[in-house]
Amino acid sequence: MTYNYEQLMNSAKEASKMSYSPFSRFAVGAGVLAGSGKIYTGCNIENSSFGMTICAERCAIFKAISEGEKEILAVAIYSPNADNCYPCGACRQVMSEFESDSAELEVITENLGQLEVRKLSEFLPFGFKI
Ligand code: THU
Repeated sequence: MTYNYEQLMNSAKEASKMSYSPFSRFAVGAGVLAGSGKIYTGCNIENSSFGMTICAERCAIFKAISEGEKEILAVAIYSPNADNCYPCGACRQVMSEFESDSAELEVITENLGQLEVRKLSEFLPFGFKI
């Protein structure tokens, strides 16, 4: 599916504004393009019990899957606090679970205003899958 990287990144930027991150003060937003062509967004949501925190990427992916999506085609990630906000290991594993068999999942980040587009396989080589 062809899609607009800029539009997906803009959805991540919008979502980062909803971040609940009083502990780290590190806001993150994610925009997820699902198999239906619909975009879902998420932000990081922290908790006083720190381990309960959820990352923006998993928030957005779980929203998509819980709305009936079966596949994730692309994930844009944005933080106003860092360039190239790359996904953590846990989120890479969750992305891999919902990657399509027919199209490699793309991960979009922004560095100094320039979009960087990479395949999930670059972030998670030799990933675990059943
Ligand atoms: N965080 C994300 O939302 N996504 C990532 O891929 C890395 C980390 C969040 C979790 C926590 O709220 C804050 O960034 C600092 O780790």
